[in-house]
Amino acid sequence: MTTEPGAGEFYPFVGVGPHPKPWPVGEQYDQELLELGDKRNVLDEYRYWTVAAIVADLNTKRNPLHIAVENWKHDLNIGSLIRTANAFNVAGIHIVGKRDWNRRGAMVTDRYMNVQHHPTVTEFAEWAKTNKLAIIGIDNIDVSKRLENRPLPRECVLFFGQEGSGMSDEAVSVCEVVLAINQYGSTRSINASAAGAIAMYAWGLQHLSPKDSDNNISQG
Ligand SMILES: C[S@@+](CC[C@H](N)C(=O)[O-])C[C@H]1O[C@@H](n2cnc3c(N)ncnc32)[C@H](O)[C@@H]1O
Repeated sequence: MTTEPGAGEFYPFVGVGPHPKPWPVGEQYDQELLELGDKRNVLDEYRYWTVAAIVADLNTKRNPLHIAVENWKHDLNIGSLIRTANAFNVAGIHIVGKRDWNRRGAMVTDRYMNVQHHPTVTEFAEWAKTNKLAIIGIDNIDVSKRLENRPLPRECVLFFGQEGSGMSDEAVSVCEVVLAINQYGSTRSINASAAGAIAMYAWGLQHLSPKDSDNNISQG
């Protein structure tokens, strides 16, 4: 839902303005958002909700997919990979390597997600083993098999490399299999966030059942 801009606001106007009185009642509502309007990039059903209430609701319906990404060089792609992971409501996001990651592309979507840091590939692999999750590498390297038409485990971690170097040898060594997205042009690779979107979508086609009621999509 998009409403007209209020006084002093200019197009393009994203979100909703102040909630008309009487206000809805419930612990999920943020009084400040009700008063001033909600400009966040959230679904209509979460309008005027506190972040904590949105996270609590998302936690009741997380999908059993995890996303992991190597973070050695503060890669700009990580934020946008996380934004897509939010759209797929994945159970967890794993930053492997440096703790500080480049948040720019995330557009604060990480606030709604369970983000975990693993300083080394070994520690990440131990976490996956403890949680009985297969690590599926996503990269186009010599040992890769095709992602297309390949059954993906329902409960797994998709592990991505970073811009430039791609997956490290150590990262590849902890993967059950590494899968490549087929390409048809001249570039060696697509960026990690684009690869993430394709891989999560491929997983979703196998394990999720979209309904017309999802994401405010009307029937048609
Ligand atoms: C820019 S790529 C770099 C590495 C790539 N192996 C190369 O030879 O140039 C960065 C990351 O994006 C993902 N990626 C890019 N293109 C891909 C493809 N065609 N298939 C699977 N993953 C891909 C991988 O996770 C990869 O580690």
